[in-house]
Amino acid sequence: MTSFWLDRGQSFSTDPFEAGGSYDTVVAGAGLTGLVTALLLARSGQRVLVLEARFPGAVTTGNTTAKVSLLQGTVLSGLARQYAQKQIGAYVEANREGQSWLLRYLDEHHVPYQRRDAYTYATTAQGTERLLEELGAATTAGLDVEYVRDARLPFSIQSALLLTDQAQINPMDVLDTLLLDVRARGGSVVGGTRLRNVSGNGPLTVHTDQGTVTANDVVLATGIPVLDRGLYFTKLKPLRSYAAALELPAGVTAPPGMYLSAEEPTHSLRDYEADGRRFLLVGGHGHQVGRTESEKSHLSGLLDWATGHFTGAVATHTWSAQDYQATNLMPFFGKLPRGRGHIFFGTGYNKWGMTNAVAAALGISADILGGSLRWANTIHHRVTSPGGALTAVAVNAGVAARLAADWGKLAVGKSVAVPVETAVSTGPTTGGPIPADGDAKVYRDGARPAAVSTVGGTTCRLSAVCTHLGGIVHWNDSELTWDCPLHGSRFSPDGKLLEGPATKDLPRLDPA
Ligand SMILES: Cc1cc2nc3c(=O)[nH]c(=O)nc-3n(C[C@H](O)[C@H](O)[C@H](O)COP(=O)(O)OP(=O)(O)OC[C@H]3O[C@@H](n4cnc5c(N)ncnc54)[C@H](O)[C@@H]3O)c2cc1C
Ligand code: FES
Repeated sequence: MTSFWLDRGQSFSTDPFEAGGSYDTVVAGAGLTGLVTALLLARSGQRVLVLEARFPGAVTTGNTTAKVSLLQGTVLSGLARQYAQKQIGAYVEANREGQSWLLRYLDEHHVPYQRRDAYTYATTAQGTERLLEELGAATTAGLDVEYVRDARLPFSIQSALLLTDQAQINPMDVLDTLLLDVRARGGSVVGGTRLRNVSGNGPLTVHTDQGTVTANDVVLATGIPVLDRGLYFTKLKPLRSYAAALELPAGVTAPPGMYLSAEEPTHSLRDYEADGRRFLLVGGHGHQVGRTESEKSHLSGLLDWATGHFTGAVATHTWSAQDYQATNLMPFFGKLPRGRGHIFFGTGYNKWGMTNAVAAALGISADILGGSLRWANTIHHRVTSPGGALTAVAVNAGVAARLAADWGKLAVGKSVAVPVETAVSTGPTTGGPIPADGDAKVYRDGARPAAVSTVGGTTCRLSAVCTHLGGIVHWNDSELTWDCPLHGSRFSPDGKLLEGPATKDLPRLDPA
């Protein structure tokens, strides 16, 4: 499903990949993290290559709701349960720097954005308690947040927090501008080229599916890092959520601010105007990637909520996307362990990447160029709190349990009922079940776990074993993709890798 931002009839034109080329820095990933980092490095005279596995904005940045806000739901009270004031102050400073850099950049390049007041609202007494806790954390961190009873919403609420004068953007306008700027400063942006590995030291060899290049430094701006050094996949939760654009009928106005509910399922709201048409963008109803019975039901829950509250609004686009939450809630950016000080990464923005990605890019580029940022140093030197360590243990125990359960269900001789699929059978080595269009099954094909789907009349039989670390993939009935419930890698029905920590496609079990 194509997002509102990506539905624009404009295709990306790639620079050529020059095998054997040598660069100061290779950046993998052309989302917000990658392109801001590339620009900062190119501006300082570096020779920069951006490698993008798909096209700029293809994964999270082109599918975001794009609020550029320092009021971030109940994030600060979550951090306050784990960290000292110094670290929370550094988080806020990082986000303030990220926001200021981005808005200043957009002003300088005449890219439109809208100033909006940001609200986090509660509809229950429990939600109000969470808001009061957030108010305390935000005020202590120096944010000028107000507690209000009216958020100018067309439905009743109990209370809200308000931070005035925040912003919202069109993320693809921003990426387009960054991309032109990187190229104007001598950088190259190559699409359809996946970084598969990095080896050696001084200079590093970057292995891609088009050949190798060398670089002094490599930045993994790939969402979750695609190299397993540092084991960040064990410290991050992949969270998928749903979004829709609804066109508003004459006489119905969008609420004037940007909103996020304090309660689950979350509801996020903002407006957008294009060609005289007025849209409301809604988001929420998320879950951990690959761990729900039906993705479709999350999307329909969101749409029911939106059309129930905004009568006559008609959905023009629906989509979903994922972002990564650090188990200790603080984003990660900087040097990747065991990267000999020359491999950098940024991740774990917990759905607040419009500011955190820019902050990460500022921090990474300062590291590479020999600078130093106080807030970045404080974030680098934080100690994982006991709470964060326990969450990491719980997340990984959940991963291990899920891995064992899914493989157990496919054990020889057992009849299988892998949770997501509508039906599963132990099929023969050749042939096997042929699902109805839009449907899929996981079954045992001889000794191998197999995943079969039919989409648009084409049946594809693949290995059901995720190429990252062996999870059994799950059928996403909304996006029609195979999603791994362990660390969030996702694959198209014909096995092409879409996103996540894996670097290889799912192998086909029958000829293409
Ligand atoms: C539904 C939703 C709503 C959100 N709303 C907001 C919001 O309102 N405000 C906010 O601040 N944040 C929001 N976020 C979060 C924000 O969108 C993200 O944190 C941010 O876009 C992440 O940017 P990124 O550059 O790190 O990742 P991405 O945009 O995902 O970029 C990573 C890129 O790396 C490429 N890649 C991956 N592997 C490789 C490889 N091996 N080689 C080469 N390239 C590779 C991918 O194809 C991709 O283009 C939201 C997130 C979601 C899911
Ligand atoms: S994403 Fe790690 S095993 Fe699938």
